[in-house]
Amino acid sequence: MRVVRSVAELDLSGDVGLVPTMGALHAGHRALFRAARAESETVVASLFVNPAQFDDADDLAAYPRDEAADAAIAEAEGVDVLFAPSREELYPAGFGTWVDVDDTGAEGAARPGHFRGVATVCVKLFNVVRPHRAYFGQKDAQQVAVIRRVVRDLNLGVDIRVVATVRDTDGLAFSSRNTRLSTEGRERALVLPRALAAGADAFTRGADAVRTALDTFNGVVPDYVEVVELGDTTLLAAAVTVDNVRLIDNVLLKGSLS
Ligand code: PAJ
Repeated sequence: MRVVRSVAELDLSGDVGLVPTMGALHAGHRALFRAARAESETVVASLFVNPAQFDDADDLAAYPRDEAADAAIAEAEGVDVLFAPSREELYPAGFGTWVDVDDTGAEGAARPGHFRGVATVCVKLFNVVRPHRAYFGQKDAQQVAVIRRVVRDLNLGVDIRVVATVRDTDGLAFSSRNTRLSTEGRERALVLPRALAAGADAFTRGADAVRTALDTFNGVVPDYVEVVELGDTTLLAAAVTVDNVRLIDNVLLKGSLS
């Protein structure tokens, strides 16, 4: 695996699959690498904690970083090129062009500016890597919707592939932020997948998915619980903050994202 830090050194050709990440890699990222490996000649993973998508300076500072461990995971999953640029490489002095996306749903409303930062960095990554396909996780379903819209609206011609959410044995979706939870916080965080599963179950019985999910949160106040329509697909999405760590998750109610 080649580790590349500058755009100038990225001389890619042929059929390329890109997996954008912010590192602190876990089983969810591994699933994306595998999906890319299965159908791409060259797999590029990007590793960049994108300051533009953090609306909270403390969250950015606390974001876990371990490049050596990330490189070992990426290599083990067959990544060919790890693109790990510096902040200055992607946002040089004088940077002032942004990709702004309208109506980014509950998650966008909860984190002003977040999806503008995500959209901007993804467009930059698509422009420098020129992938045929890019891989994203269902866990961040609204991110998928934003990226698909950017690709369509700006005619970027990148095929957006979606990989199902990978969960730990207790049901909590893998997330780079999980390492910041205390043992007790992690236990409390389990209400998130449980409430969503209860909501999805209620939905199949014709009951109110949101109401049921909200009842199941017992005590932990979610930032939002919302039915999200993404084209033909309907999701139940929620966010909670536990131990000062914000976690998001969703389950499919109808359709599929892939
Ligand atoms: P990051 O949180 O590192 O996630 C990188 C990719 O991994 C995203 O597409 C995310 O949806 C996916 N992912 C995370 N946890 C997952 C899980 N448990 N199961 C399946 N997929 C999972 O999302 C970002 O980074 C950034 O916003 C980025 C797209 C890299 C732009 O900066």
